[in-house]
Order: sequence, then C-alpha cells, then structure tokens
Amino acid sequence: MNPFQSSSKCLLFLFVLLWCSQSMNAQKAATDSSEVRALNSIFQQWGIQASDSWNISGEPCSGSAVNTSDPVFMNPSNSPAIRCECYFNNTTLCHITGLIVVALNTRGVIPEELLDLPFLTVLGLDRNFFSGPLPAFMGKMSRLEFLSIGSNEFSGLIPKELGNLEELRTLFLSVNNFSGTLPQELGNLVNLERLYIDSCGLGKEIPSTFANLVNLQIFSANDNAFTGKMPDFVGNNWTKLTGLRFQGNSFEGPIPSSFANLNSLRSLRIGDIYNGSSSLDFIRNLNKLTDL
Ligand SMILES: *[C@@H]1O[C@H](CO)[C@@H](O)[C@H](O)[C@H]1NC(C)=O
Ligand SMILES: *[C@@H]1O[C@H](CO)[C@@H](O)[C@H](O)[C@H]1NC(C)=O
Ligand SMILES: *[C@@H]1O[C@H](CO)[C@@H](O)[C@H](O)[C@H]1NC(C)=O
Ligand SMILES: *[C@@H]1O[C@H](CO)[C@@H](O)[C@H](O)[C@H]1NC(C)=O
Ligand SMILES: *[C@@H]1O[C@H](CO)[C@@H](O)[C@H](O)[C@H]1NC(C)=O
Ligand SMILES: *[C@@H]1O[C@H](CO)[C@@H](O)[C@H](O)[C@H]1NC(C)=O
Ligand SMILES: *[C@@H]1O[C@H](CO)[C@@H](O)[C@H](O)[C@H]1NC(C)=O
Repeated sequence: MNPFQSSSKCLLFLFVLLWCSQSMNAQKAATDSSEVRALNSIFQQWGIQASDSWNISGEPCSGSAVNTSDPVFMNPSNSPAIRCECYFNNTTLCHITGLIVVALNTRGVIPEELLDLPFLTVLGLDRNFFSGPLPAFMGKMSRLEFLSIGSNEFSGLIPKELGNLEELRTLFLSVNNFSGTLPQELGNLVNLERLYIDSCGLGKEIPSTFANLVNLQIFSANDNAFTGKMPDFVGNNWTKLTGLRFQGNSFEGPIPSSFANLNSLRSLRIGDIYNGSSSLDFIRNLNKLTDL
C-alpha cells in the first residue's frame, strides 16, 4: 500500500468521524420529557397518533417538527403536527411551541395536560368534533399568540380567563355552540389583531372594554344575537380595521357616524341595519371598499 493510499483512507476515516459526530450533535437536542408525556397523553385521549414525518423513534421533536416554516407546520394535510424550538439550554433541549390538530374528525375535550406544554404559542384545533367548555385553565397558557378552535361543538360560556392571554394576536372561535356574551375581560387583549366570532351563539351587547382593542384589523362577528347600538368605539378606536363583519345580529339604530373614520377598511358586512341619515352619509362615502 503506498503512502498516498493510506493517507487518503485516513482522511476518509476522519471525514466519516467528523460527519458522525456532527450528526450526533444534531440529534443531541431532546424534547423536554414532561412535554413528551403530556403530548402522548393528549393524543391518547383524542385517539390520534403522530404522523410518520415526526416522532421518529419516539422523539417528537424530530423530522418535520423541527422545520419551523409556517407552510409545513400550518398545512392541514400534515395534521396532526407539532412544531418545536431546540435552542434551549445550549441547543440540547427542545420545547413544543405549536400543536395543530385540524380536520381529523377528532372528538374529545380540552385536556388539562395542555398546561404541561408551557411553551405553546400556536394551538389550532379547527374542524373537528371537540366539545365541552373552554376550560378556565386555558387562561394560564400565557405564551399563546394564535388560538383557533373554529368549527367544533364547544359550548358553555367563553371563560373570562381568556382575557389573561395578552400575547394573543389571533383568536378564532367561529362556528361553535357557545352561549352568554363576550366577557368584558377580553378587552385586555390589547395585542389582538384578528378576532373571529361568527356563528358562535353569543348575544347581548359588545362590552365597552373592547374600545381597548386598538390593534384589531379584523373583527368578524356575523350571525350572533348581539343587541344594542353598534358601538361608537369601532370608528373611534379601531383605527387599523380592514375588515368588519356584523351581519345577522340584532343591532338597533343607525350606523354610528364615527365609522366614517375607518380609513383602512376594505371589507364591510353589516347587513340589514342601514337606518337613519348618518348611515346613508356613511354608505355614500364607502368608495374605498372593495367588498361590500
Ligand atoms: C411517539 O412514538 C412512541 C414510540 O414509538 C410512542 O410510544 C408514542 O405514543 C408516540 N407519540 C405520539 C404523540 O404519537
Ligand atoms: C422545511 O420543509 C420545506 C418543505 O418540505 C423544505 O423546502 C425546507 O428545506 C425545510 N427546511 C428545513 C430547515 O428542513
Ligand atoms: C435547562 O435545563 C435545566 C436543567 O435540566 C432546567 O431546569 C431548565 O428548565 C432548562 N431551561 C429551559 C429554558 O428549558
Ligand atoms: C454549549 O455547547 C458548546 C458545544 O457543545 C460548548 O462548547 C459550550 O461551552 C456550551 N456553552 C455553555 C454555556 O454551556
Ligand atoms: C347547543 O347548545 C344548546 C344549549 O345551549 C343545546 O340545546 C344544543 O343541543 C346544542 N347544539 C349542538 C349542535 O351541540
Ligand atoms: C377611544 O377614542 C376616543 C375618541 O378619540 C378617545 O377619547 C378614547 O381615549 C379612546 N379610548 C381608547 C381606549 O383608546
Ligand atoms: C329605523 O329608524 C326609525 C326612526 O329613527 C325607527 O322608528 C325604526 O325603529 C328604525 N328601524 C330599525 C330596524 O332600527
């Protein structure tokens, strides 16, 4: 064997060693064990399983779960899906930051084990047959930025504790079987940009605390039983509004003249309440709207 051959073999060996140690490093990050227990328990209660693209050999934060790209995680055809962040404790520890269980005909309730996923920022449970109330303990899921539970069979009152979720940007509750009214505590959600509560079974007046929701871009509340006057604060305080849907409720009186301030509004559905002269002036000035 000539020296050149042996040194190239040596080099190859070194490369393999390096590659091995690197891929071992990459796999060193492991999911927080209490989160693994919680996830397994939740999935067991809901009768679902991790997909083949993650939970490879029992390690949930692997494969597609560590791909943080939204189109991968949010794609309904990848449901159920989790998303992990693995930079904790010097990149040795992964926390589950997102959970999506969408359109799987899943039945069950919101389990308390969700509190053992304390790093969750995204929870999406849309288009299933989940039922029971939204439990008050959801108010402790303090990192949530996106909560979407639309098109299920949830019932009962909207818990006032949801008003503690001050990081929320999106709250989607549409098409469920709630009762009662909007808790005034939801007025604390000052970072909220999108609130969807269409066909939710809610009624009475929109609380005056909602004047604080100054970052709202979309407020979608069609087909409920809201009463009283349309609130003035919509026009005075929700200055970033691009979409407003109020159709199919029981509001009285004219559209407040303050609505003419809504310079960013592009989509408006307020249905059959046009009444009174200020409404007419308002409608005449709606040349900006693309979707009336
Ligand atoms: C992940 O895989 C392990 C081992 O195969 C299994 O016991 C566990 O139930 C799986 N977890 C989920 C959430 O499906
Ligand atoms: C994430 O998944 C997408 C689509 O499958 C892929 O194009 C991308 O390279 C992946 N990113 C990482 C970091 O694996
Ligand atoms: C880092 O690890 C320690 C010890 O295992 C643990 O107590 C701590 O919670 C971890 N930090 C994070 C941010 O997870
Ligand atoms: C983090 O890990 C790297 C590589 O394993 C090591 O060199 C570094 O000292 C660690 N840093 C801390 C703060 O533990
Ligand atoms: C909705 O809730 C009401 C009671 O509030 C109940 O009578 C009705 O059966 C529920 N409907 C569905 C589809 O769950
Ligand atoms: C709402 O708008 C009115 C009129 O501009 C203003 O006086 C009031 O302070 C605003 N309220 C909030 C909560 O921003
Ligand atoms: C419309 O306005 C008139 C006069 O202000 C009032 O009598 C009537 O009840 C209003 N209709 C509705 C549906 O609010």
